[in-house]
Amino acid sequence: MTDATTKINPVIECILSRRSSKFYDPAATLSDDQIRELVRIGTSAPTSFNLQNWRFIALRTPEAKARLSPIAWSQPAIMDAAVTFIVIGRLADASTLPQRLAPVVEAGIMPAHMVPESERRARSLYDDQPQRQRDEAMRTATFGAAAMIYAAHALGLGSTPMIGFDADAVHREFGLGENEVPAMLLTVGPERAGNWPQKPRMPVADVLDLL
Ligand SMILES: Cc1cc2nc3c(=O)[nH]c(=O)nc-3n(C[C@H](O)[C@H](O)[C@H](O)COP(=O)(O)O)c2cc1C
Repeated sequence: MTDATTKINPVIECILSRRSSKFYDPAATLSDDQIRELVRIGTSAPTSFNLQNWRFIALRTPEAKARLSPIAWSQPAIMDAAVTFIVIGRLADASTLPQRLAPVVEAGIMPAHMVPESERRARSLYDDQPQRQRDEAMRTATFGAAAMIYAAHALGLGSTPMIGFDADAVHREFGLGENEVPAMLLTVGPERAGNWPQKPRMPVADVLDLL
């Protein structure tokens, strides 16, 4: 891999040029099909055992966004972005695994006899381990959101993950289940002028240990 390779590869170029958007075109909208497509792409992200322990709420009407705004620091992007997602992680639950793996078996990818062993391993990781169940919820939601962020950028849309919200209030207002954690908000939509470029990062030498 050379510097030249990273520059000409469109996927890497997309990763390197993404930036967080503060300023969205408030008149812009995304169709429900475009929103579904973003979530479809997001759900191609990896999850532990293919648990797919995520859920997405897409706020795309002024009324829906107005329910979120006061419990999310009234950040203007929430109202201005075409869509604001509540990205939800679900506590990892090994009992859901046979159902999640059934299509994998049906597709001829995993032999059926491997399913009970996968469930046993998942149970050994997550059963009676509330911290690990929650960690997995956050990891899953984050991978899904990341895939949506890069897909949005590839489609010419701005995006920003956001932690500036009251998680308990969001949980209540949008009727999340006991096994659900609002991991982050994610604004997505056409931008207006004024957004900063991606900010400089720490040198790799400061964040990488080569052993
Ligand atoms: C977990 C997380 C939470 C964030 N929360 C907010 C937020 O509440 N509001 C906001 O405007 N930006 C938020 N951001 C965006 C960051 O400020 C931004 O990614 C960072 O400053 C780097 O900028 P860049 O992505 O444009 O390089 C968040 C980013 C992450 C990853």
